[in-house]
Amino acid sequence: MKSMDRWRGRVALVTGASAGIGRAVAQRLAEAGMKVALTARRQERLDALAAAIGEAGGEALALPADARDEAALIEVFERVRAAWGGVDVMVNNAGLGRDAPLCDGDTAGWREMLDVNVLALAICTREAVSDMRRRGDAGQIIHISSMSGHRVPPGGGGFYAATKHAVRALTEGLRQELRAADSAIRVCAISPGSVETEFAEVMRGPAAAAEAYGRFPCLQPHDVADAVLFALGRPPHAQIHDILLRPTRQPS
Ligand SMILES: NC(=O)c1ccc[n+]([C@@H]2O[C@H](COP(=O)([O-])OP(=O)(O)OC[C@H]3O[C@@H](n4cnc5c(N)ncnc54)[C@H](OP(=O)(O)O)[C@@H]3O)[C@@H](O)[C@H]2O)c1
Repeated sequence: MKSMDRWRGRVALVTGASAGIGRAVAQRLAEAGMKVALTARRQERLDALAAAIGEAGGEALALPADARDEAALIEVFERVRAAWGGVDVMVNNAGLGRDAPLCDGDTAGWREMLDVNVLALAICTREAVSDMRRRGDAGQIIHISSMSGHRVPPGGGGFYAATKHAVRALTEGLRQELRAADSAIRVCAISPGSVETEFAEVMRGPAAAAEAYGRFPCLQPHDVADAVLFALGRPPHAQIHDILLRPTRQPS
């Protein structure tokens, strides 16, 4: 893809690369000629994806870490710096929902969503910006947010929506800090509606997931990867701020 030429040979770090959207984004970035660092907890999945990328002629590193552990995240960055010098494109994708309503939900579920969806994203952003400043001040941060960062869906997902509203604020807050610093680093969010991944099963179990993904044709992970490639492929003077994309037949 010609619009991706300037990223060829540069380094992307994708969180949540063991499944769903993250895996599809990592594959597409590797196909576009980027070196891709893959992180998530499930090492065997990362190893398999890194091997597949390698067999297809690309370069990938599998770097397992729990996103709730700041020291583990910092170690991921240290390993990317040691191998390839640092990060040029940061895709903050790792995330989850827990079935934890506000009236009677479990604090552990709220904390996990906050730790992964918000704090890990902020930690990875800070580390990546420091790399990008050293490497020519012209990288890109991409947050995988959600339609739930733009409205609160019915059905008890209030806390999850709160974390994605936080991502929306973090996108604009970072844009403002980068403008104040006169940096060429870009930031954008991608906000999908329902995507058929492991997300619904993690949140509510297999029966609810089958029901959720059977109601209408959902987005597929490659639809979100396309949006990431579109944002990255814009010329340096054009910054996509957010892309909202829903399944055509999704009501909310
Ligand atoms: N699917 C949707 O309908 C939808 C819609 C809008 C936005 N999103 C957002 O899209 C992003 C990706 O979700 P998905 O739909 O692709 O779901 P998924 O298939 O469940 O993938 C989630 C990814 O996040 C990783 N992850 C979760 N907890 C982690 C932890 N503690 N440490 C490290 N990695 C962790 C998982 O890896 P391990 O389990 O291997 O650690 C996995 O790779 C999330 O931010 C989600 O909020 C999804």
